[in-house]
Amino acid sequence: MNKKTLKDFDFAGKRVLVRVDFNVPLEGGEVTDNTRIEAALPTIKYLIREEAKVILMSHLGRPGGQVVEELRMDPVGEELANLLGQEVLKADDCIGSEVAEAVSRLDKGGVLLLENTRFHPGEKENDPEFAKELAQNADIFISDAFGAVHRAHASTVGVTEYLPAGAGFLIQRELNSLGKAVENPEKPYAAIIGGAKVSDKMSVIKNILPRCDYLLVGGGIANTFLLAQGYEVGESLVEEDMVDLAREIMSEAESQGKEVVLPIDVVVAEKLEAGSPHKSVPIDEVPADWQIVDSGGPKSIEKYKEILSKCKTITWNGPVGVFEIDEFAKGTMAIAKTLAASEGYTVVGGGESAAAVKKAGVEKEVSHVSTGGGASLQFFEGKPLPGVEALDNLEE
Ligand code: 3PG
Repeated sequence: MNKKTLKDFDFAGKRVLVRVDFNVPLEGGEVTDNTRIEAALPTIKYLIREEAKVILMSHLGRPGGQVVEELRMDPVGEELANLLGQEVLKADDCIGSEVAEAVSRLDKGGVLLLENTRFHPGEKENDPEFAKELAQNADIFISDAFGAVHRAHASTVGVTEYLPAGAGFLIQRELNSLGKAVENPEKPYAAIIGGAKVSDKMSVIKNILPRCDYLLVGGGIANTFLLAQGYEVGESLVEEDMVDLAREIMSEAESQGKEVVLPIDVVVAEKLEAGSPHKSVPIDEVPADWQIVDSGGPKSIEKYKEILSKCKTITWNGPVGVFEIDEFAKGTMAIAKTLAASEGYTVVGGGESAAAVKKAGVEKEVSHVSTGGGASLQFFEGKPLPGVEALDNLEE
């Protein structure tokens, strides 16, 4: 990465504005999954050790440019204080006199958490005036919000116009880990692409196909590929307008000598709900009034394991079934466990696939689980990440 990182700055006594992604799930005013907070700790602890005055900011949820009481950052601040074992001051806004006053009270090595940046419409609009206000109480900007670098907002991009800007450890780790898999994979390389909609994953498939040896297509998107191969998929979710594209991808793969792996048997259900009658059927026996809910029929799972066990690199984006419902989670759980057992380099894109490895209890056993859902998807698509592009280049 040709960007400035923590080691390129002298932080002692400086006011350092850090964009983190503390967009974490809350329930009853408590953080229910602190993965993203933990992931930012190396940068925060480093800045504390370097005697910076640490000012943290993040969005939380989608409050739509106004104050939403349930989306205040207070529970996040409490969780962070527990994890750090030190006091975390909290401001009730992210700009204005209250912030200036709180910053002036910060000691070296002290930590202040600002209020949800999305309480202001200027955040998502990347309004220069709002970005200037965010920046005005700081000397240096560090971005460590990998989960938000695909958003060109005031707190991810706008502030870089007003402050020297570099990347924190999490951004470095994410880009190195995702880059190692996608840009320089040790072969054979299998890319597993699942999820509900082909249209969401087409750009990923196009970018990954030339790099991988096997493309395992599962989940809702496999239905459209199966349709393109002439199978009947009953009431399953399909995108008719994507059938030609699916056909093109399969013939492109063939001409490149790549194997597109589709399910050979699947779990079908009468209804997409827990408790609905369901069964495994060969792919050419999907009942006309049932729907495919899981690519993980026993033969498909066997095939996935056989292919994945010989791969030195595996990337995974998107579940291969409706894994939130236990009866439809077999394929997704089998993939999570196969990745965990692999001796190869295994990378899980964030969002739903990250939730799936957690559900399988194997998140510590894969090489890298991204903290970014949309951000990792954009990386897999090979598209630039505005929140990284905006940081200072090394030669500046
Ligand atoms: C995420 O959860 O993927 C990031 O925090 C970005 O959130 P957003 O999709 O609301 O911009």
